[in-house]
Amino acid sequence: MISVKNLTKYYADNLALDRVSFEVEAGDIVGFLGPNGAGKSTTMKIITCFLPPSAGRAKVAEYDIIDSPMEVRRRIGYMPENVPLYTEMRVREYLSFRAKIKDVPRKERTARIEQVMSRCWLTHVQRQTIGTLSKGYRQRVGLADAMVSDPEILILDEPTIGLDPNQVRQVRELVKELGQDHTVLVSTHILPEVEMICDRVIIINNGRIAMQDSLASLRKGSSKHVEYYLEVKGPADEVDRVLRTVEGITELSAHPVHHGGDDVAGFTFKAAREGGAAEAVAAKMVTSGWSVRELRRRERTLEDVFVEVVGRELPVSA
Ligand SMILES: Nc1ncnc2c1ncn2[C@@H]1O[C@H](COP(=O)(O)OP(=O)(O)OP(=O)(O)O)[C@@H](O)[C@H]1O
Ligand SMILES: [Mg+2]
Repeated sequence: MISVKNLTKYYADNLALDRVSFEVEAGDIVGFLGPNGAGKSTTMKIITCFLPPSAGRAKVAEYDIIDSPMEVRRRIGYMPENVPLYTEMRVREYLSFRAKIKDVPRKERTARIEQVMSRCWLTHVQRQTIGTLSKGYRQRVGLADAMVSDPEILILDEPTIGLDPNQVRQVRELVKELGQDHTVLVSTHILPEVEMICDRVIIINNGRIAMQDSLASLRKGSSKHVEYYLEVKGPADEVDRVLRTVEGITELSAHPVHHGGDDVAGFTFKAAREGGAAEAVAAKMVTSGWSVRELRRRERTLEDVFVEVVGRELPVSA
């Protein structure tokens, strides 16, 4: 549905996007994740034809962004990071004005406006001027604006930024719901948000795609080695010594146990997903006379992946 190939963008001498390529399939909810200044908004502005690329191509529903910008725009609902709103207009009036600009047929306009106002929880403020709305409500107007022409594709640039926790939850639920019948590309730097909403994630860092994968396969982890967590009732030193005799275990390290009392020891180690090392550990503990309180695989979280590909220090650019 969206196809981006070697997209490159210079702002004067500053290389903001460096040969960015990715695909978004119809019906997907894709999280576009990256630290500040990574190039998320720049990519979105190019796909939505608000900014020309320096090189590379992008297609939306088979239409090229350079050759057919009108066709592209018609198919996309875009919520930019700074929603440009006419502060002196009333909510309903603004959405009506936007629907007209977006060529929503006159007969359908009222119904569309009612529908998006209801979905974005705006009905009760429809006669309020936008300038008097709180930040969260303005975000909702931006979202309603993106949806008013009933586009197939939604491109949302950090839709939950600046919202209170309750509104964040509501907007996430709405985006997820919209994902059932739309293709969605949503940018964020909030990792749990991606885990809650998205099927796929694209991580961008320093203008380059650092990784893209489905959340399901991310959780499984691509490597055959997985981390285990072990909690045993036994003396830490001795347990450690015995663990080191188990074949196939690497990166063994003690792990503090906060709730166990003195005789409980915690460890993490790595071992092959298949191959029986975990079973061997359990057996060794039991034959040594220590009971196993917990032994579990620790699946990789999106945060682990993010730290691997972007680094712990999040670079922040002006
Ligand atoms: N209009 C502009 N003129 C010059 N440089 C720009 C402009 N817009 C963005 N940049 C630069 O391009 C890079 C990418 O910026 P972009 O806004 O796309 O990042 P982002 O991932 O959306 O970041 P954030 O999470 O802070 O919104 C940054 O280095 C930024 O300083
Ligand atoms: Mg941005």
